Amino acid sequence: MRIGLMGFGVVGRGVYELAASRSDMEIVRVLCRRDLSLPDADVTHDARDILNDPSIDTVVETIGGLHPAWDYVRAAIEAGKNVVTANKAMVAEFYDELIPLVERKGVLFRCTAAVGGGIGWLSALERARRMESIREISGIMNGTCNYILDSMTRLGLGYDEALSQAQSLGYAEADPTTDVDGIDTWHKLIVSSNVAFGVSLDKSGVPVWGIRNILASDVSNFKEHGLCCKLIATGRMQGGHFSAFVQPTLFPSFAPESAVPTNFNLITLIGNTSGRQSFFGQGAGRYPTAYNVAEDLADLICGHGFYSPCSESVPVHNHETFQFYVRGASDEWLESHTELHWGDAVVTVPVSVAQMHRWCASHPNVFMAAMPERKDIHC
Ligand code: HSE
Repeated sequence: MRIGLMGFGVVGRGVYELAASRSDMEIVRVLCRRDLSLPDADVTHDARDILNDPSIDTVVETIGGLHPAWDYVRAAIEAGKNVVTANKAMVAEFYDELIPLVERKGVLFRCTAAVGGGIGWLSALERARRMESIREISGIMNGTCNYILDSMTRLGLGYDEALSQAQSLGYAEADPTTDVDGIDTWHKLIVSSNVAFGVSLDKSGVPVWGIRNILASDVSNFKEHGLCCKLIATGRMQGGHFSAFVQPTLFPSFAPESAVPTNFNLITLIGNTSGRQSFFGQGAGRYPTAYNVAEDLADLICGHGFYSPCSESVPVHNHETFQFYVRGASDEWLESHTELHWGDAVVTVPVSVAQMHRWCASHPNVFMAAMPERKDIHC
């Protein structure tokens, strides 16, 4: 396999190092903005040196973001090259163009590292959906947010200190607001839901609320009530209807989610045949993420591309209800939906996800979290 590596940041460098130890993966050229010299590969500033080189059969994209990453990936596929990417934003955004293009050109494509860092979540998910109908996916999909929430809860760190530690450990996105506002989790939810349900979700119907407004006083409130806060993505399919949302969510301290430390992710699927399967591992960082890129390359060598189908765009309806913890604003609507007061915060009566997120959108400084759900555990 002769590889053109696009991007030489946290993940790209990790891929380069892992491939160097393999006799079946030769990185022949690296696209990098910086001037750099590498012992075993040419370095170029011009993507055409990779795209127009017929000896390169596979492109690995680790640039991140939408452009120019998507332009290069599309051009690589058009040129008949196989592609592996870790880029969740690009896969989420261009899913319904990308998957049909891959099929049309007959190339191989994989993106396991796009969700779950070092966990083989997407690979397990696409295998699971061959055999059964998946009705729910959910979990902790962002290592940076988990690192922040875990550090605030277990170590009593302040939000800013925890975020800057996550950045210096290489977990955060180039723009960490993408992590703390839940956008990174949102991208991962879109990709995971599309794979799980064989659809292309209408992204405009998927609401997201992040953790940027959480305070130490919220964490104390939760601890007093035996609860732990995590940023959770949920996608469900019931009777042909889809719901999908990202929101801070409270768990009792005995729940598996509460025990997830540092940058780890815990992602669960619930299938009609297999029941519940959960996947746990490092969700961010150079080597865990590079590991899954290398696993995808190994799959390509065996001829295994990504085989999840992609239907037309399907609408999302978030009618399901939760009680919500809310702090930081008040108005008539919130007062009329309040059931309990917890210090300077309130706990609402059950309201729909759609309604809660609509209210939050006009109250940008609030912190809210869904109260624990009473769910059956399907074994
Ligand atoms: N910023 C992401 C995270 C990197 O913290 O999970 C892995 O996708």
